[in-house]
Amino acid sequence: MTERMSAADPLVTVSHVGKSFGHTQVLRDVNLEVHAGEVVGILGPSGSGKSTLLRCINHLEELDAGEIRVDGVLVGYREHRGRLYELRPKEVALRRRDLGMVFQRFNLFGHMTALENVMEAPVRVLRRPKAEVRTEALDLLDRVGLAHRADVYPSQLSGGQQQRVAIARALAMKPKVMLFDEPTSALDPELVGEVLAVMRQLAADGMTMIVVTHEMSFAREVCDRVVFMADGVVVEQGPAAQVIDAPRHERTRTFLARVGR
Ligand SMILES: Nc1ncnc2c1ncn2[C@@H]1O[C@H](COP(=O)(O)OP(=O)(O)OP(=O)(O)O)[C@@H](O)[C@H]1O
Ligand SMILES: [Mg+2]
Repeated sequence: MTERMSAADPLVTVSHVGKSFGHTQVLRDVNLEVHAGEVVGILGPSGSGKSTLLRCINHLEELDAGEIRVDGVLVGYREHRGRLYELRPKEVALRRRDLGMVFQRFNLFGHMTALENVMEAPVRVLRRPKAEVRTEALDLLDRVGLAHRADVYPSQLSGGQQQRVAIARALAMKPKVMLFDEPTSALDPELVGEVLAVMRQLAADGMTMIVVTHEMSFAREVCDRVVFMADGVVVEQGPAAQVIDAPRHERTRTFLARVGR
């Protein structure tokens, strides 16, 4: 049934994934392996399928082809006699706890304090005791530098602070992998650094991360590997320094020339 994989196996395996919206094919035969502790950056022009890929990994989208496994386990499906069947929403929610996701737009619950936002999923989804979750949530807020803002509502926080709460909230489920979809692109420039610093620390602590980003210096510094996508395919991938500083494909070169390195 759920075969656990050995440490040498990838933690995330994306195999031959295809995805269409209507007649538009957005992902074509995408393959990606991410090992435990690796930080993988995803680069590519607007519309190339980066967000869709992350949403497929998290099963916010159904797959049209291929499969995605996290720690050897299918994310939104169960397999029966060689066919995949979609799980029920409750089962999907439980599987999804292996994956923390942080979006471009801070999507905190506006009627809850920072602390309540971080406590929400462990209490509601996992039904864990509040006192215990509260202690962990305060530790997480401390880790993102916001222990002193625990009782404040999102509207009273800056964009950078809200995004750091969003990171703490994702970490509260103790995910095996963190997915980031351009977490700094909606921020004022002066607030980008504090969010990248939290992500940098997370990477240094050994978290497995897949990060869609336009921050080239972050990708070069923090990512072990960079994947360049265009038109729904992986055009090239390799060590960050190689892909960013010596891209092999014309599409990658054109893109990098446009965004700047
Ligand atoms: N729910 C949807 N319904 C229809 N089309 C969609 C949907 N989501 C995405 N698309 C289309 O899929 C393609 C890929 O979109 P996606 O958001 O994955 O790109 P992206 O690489 O994340 O782009 P960006 O850099 O602008 O965020 C685009 O053409 C987009 O219009
Ligand atoms: Mg996107």
